[in-house]
Amino acid sequence: MKPTNLSPIRVGLLGIGTVGSGTYNVLQRNQEEIRRRAGRGIEITMVADLDVARAKAAVGPGVQVVDDARKVVASPDVDIVIELIGGYGIAKQLVLEAIEAGKHVVTANKALLAVHGTEIFAAAHRKGVMVAFEAAVAGGIPIIKALREGLTANSIQWIAGIINGTTNFILSEMRDKGLDFDVVLKEAQRLGYAEADPTFDIEGVDAGHKVTLMSAIAFGIPVQFDKAYVEGITGLAAQDIRYAEQLGYRIKLLGITKRAANGIELRVHPSLVPAKRLIANVEGAMNAVVVQGDAVGTTLYYGKGAGSEPTASAVIADLVDIARLHTADPEHRVPHLAFQPDAMSDLPVVPMSDVITSYYLRLKVADEAGVLAKVTGILAGAGISIDAVLQREADEVGGEGSTHTDLIILTHDCQEAKMNGALAQMQALPTVLAPITRIRKEELA
Ligand code: NDP
Ligand code: HSE
Repeated sequence: MKPTNLSPIRVGLLGIGTVGSGTYNVLQRNQEEIRRRAGRGIEITMVADLDVARAKAAVGPGVQVVDDARKVVASPDVDIVIELIGGYGIAKQLVLEAIEAGKHVVTANKALLAVHGTEIFAAAHRKGVMVAFEAAVAGGIPIIKALREGLTANSIQWIAGIINGTTNFILSEMRDKGLDFDVVLKEAQRLGYAEADPTFDIEGVDAGHKVTLMSAIAFGIPVQFDKAYVEGITGLAAQDIRYAEQLGYRIKLLGITKRAANGIELRVHPSLVPAKRLIANVEGAMNAVVVQGDAVGTTLYYGKGAGSEPTASAVIADLVDIARLHTADPEHRVPHLAFQPDAMSDLPVVPMSDVITSYYLRLKVADEAGVLAKVTGILAGAGISIDAVLQREADEVGGEGSTHTDLIILTHDCQEAKMNGALAQMQALPTVLAPITRIRKEELA
């Protein structure tokens, strides 16, 4: 190897919890190989954590541990700050202060970037420093690198991803073991997959943050989480998972962003996906992202989307990139959002009511003649065509002598606003006995 006389690049770590400890351990374990790749050593010299004793136990004696993260950010002996605290509060202040102090930043904090990314990237551009965030989307899968660099020749058509391990784990366990939602969520928390506030996972917010970041990079639009449509998995029932299976589909929480005629779609919701698609067979806490580009066609990225060392893998990849590009002219680095800051697009995010997709509907109806005709009549009146109908025997659904049954309808593509109108009419029928379940369907062909 060509000898290098560059001194090690010095890293300050903010927060040594699940991802922080993984980052420290992997850097230690693989330091020689990482040095050979980066062209210089990468050393964590300072760590800040609220629990100083625990942090000291996690790192070697050569590392300075403090309880005040600002000391790390302000230290003249730190070149790169890794933010692994999470949230939009203190983490935002620390990231902006690090940028102001002329330090590069690595973060896994998708919430922070999806909400405040525009401000943070602009500040970094002004100061000529890098903000790297590979770990913020799909954990250890290098999807940011793929979108920003590997697929740079393409006009991206759409991206669809299972990008929240917690919810995929819940759906898999409910389907395979028939377990209840709450039981599986507790297990996901125990295994360290869930966010500090697990409602971020189950209500689709975490996936919304991640798809917002991918959308910005894929289409060169600003990060705008506030325009994303976000729906989680709390409204799903075990029978929907079963019925979907009988119709040849699996239910997955997908983050979807798509180039449409009227702008960019940006949405997260449970989706029926044909069981034969590879992505439909991604189980447990694994993540997968499908990217459709005009030149490359369909590509699929699969791997661990959460956890200590998988996420550390992405954090360290960013450290190596920064170590290599540290001395490069800022204008010649890869732009934060893949497109040059003065070449961003103002394509609008399409309102959900204008999105066109197909649907699964489950109606709990009175088991009497004419119900199906009324329901299909409403759909026909709204110009919505039906793909398939599944009507269960009343006894099967409600037990012997039951007077109600489930009616399941798959539709062809239609505009969401039309479906909303038809749903309101169907819901008003006296023979429809409970709120109608609507799940969108994505063929991903
Ligand atoms: P943890 O809660 O495990 O770690 C956060 C650490 O930061 C804790 O040790 C916490 O201390 C410490 N901390 C909190 N406030 C401060 C502060 N003001 N100053 C210094 N330290 C502080 O979180 P994770 O490691 O799981 O997540 C970190 C980030 O990575 C988040 O943004 C998360 O969304 C993201 N992420 C996590 C993944 C995962 O699999 N866990 C995967 C991908 C991204 P204390 O415990 O005492 O509060
Ligand atoms: N809570 C997140 C998940 C962690 O379950 O996917 C990784 O971002």
